[in-house]
Amino acid sequence: MTTDSKNRPIGVFDSGIGGLTVYKALREALPQEDFIYLGDTARLPYGTKSHETVAAYALQAAQLLLEHDIKLLVVACNTASAQALPELRRAFPDLPCLGVIEPGADAAVAASHSGRIAVLATEGTARSGAYVEAIQRRSSAVEVQVLACNLLVALVEEGWCDGAEAEVILRRYLHRLEEGFDTLVLGCTHFPILAPMLRKIVSPSISIIDSAVTAAQAVREYLQSFGQLAPSSQVGSCHFLVTDGPERFERVARLFLNEDIAGKITQVYLRQR
Ligand code: DGL
Repeated sequence: MTTDSKNRPIGVFDSGIGGLTVYKALREALPQEDFIYLGDTARLPYGTKSHETVAAYALQAAQLLLEHDIKLLVVACNTASAQALPELRRAFPDLPCLGVIEPGADAAVAASHSGRIAVLATEGTARSGAYVEAIQRRSSAVEVQVLACNLLVALVEEGWCDGAEAEVILRRYLHRLEEGFDTLVLGCTHFPILAPMLRKIVSPSISIIDSAVTAAQAVREYLQSFGQLAPSSQVGSCHFLVTDGPERFERVARLFLNEDIAGKITQVYLRQR
C-alpha cells in the first residue's frame, strides 16, 4: 500500500444481504471510510455450495471490486472466508484480504474460560472446518463444536427474528449442541440479527461472539497499523452493488441497517473476467 491509497474505498464482499451486518459494524468502527459493498444476490446462498464454486465466485467478486480501486477487501461472508481466502490471497497478492473467521476465533478464545466453544454457521462453513482450525491454532486444548443452521438465514431475511417462530427454531438448533460450552460464536453474516433472541434463550453466563463486530475491529487495527486510515475529518459514503434484485436488496437491507439505501444500489454482472 502507498500513502495515497488512504482515500481509496474499502471493498466489502458477501454472498448477498447478510454481509450488511459486517458493513454496519465497519461503518460504526470506521465512519470516515468510503465503502463499496458487493452482494452476489444472483447466486446466493453460498452456504450450501461446494468449495470450488464458492472460491470461483469469490475470485470474480474480488476482481470486480478491484476495478473500483479498493484499498482492502473484507470478505464479510463467513462461508467465503472459510472457503476462499487462500485462493483470493494467491490470485491477488497485492490486495489485502481480511475475512471474518480469524477475528471471530480470536474473540472466542479470549472469551472462553471452560475451553468449550460452540459455533453456529452455514453448512459450508461447518464442513470446511475453518472455525475449528482457527480456534485450535490459537489454543489446541479448546473443544469446538460447529453446528450448521441452514434455516436461520431464511428466517432472518423474512424478518422473523424476535417472535415465537425464531425462538422455537433457535431452541431446536441449540438442543443439538452438546452442553458445557461457555462461548457461542455467531459464525454467519445473518446471525447477529438473532443475537437479542439468543441472549434471551441461552444462559447469561454464555458469551456471544458477533463475528461482524470482531471483524470490523480487526479491519480498523489493520488499517491503523499500516497508516492507511482515511483522515478522521472525513465522512465516509457507501455504494452497494448487487448481482440481482436491487429492489429486494433495498427492502431486506432495511431489516439489517434500519435505514433506507434507495438510490445507492447498482446492479452489476459477475463473470470470469
Ligand atoms: N453470507 C453467508 C455466510 O455468512 C450466509 C448466506 C449464504 O449462505 O450465502 O456464511
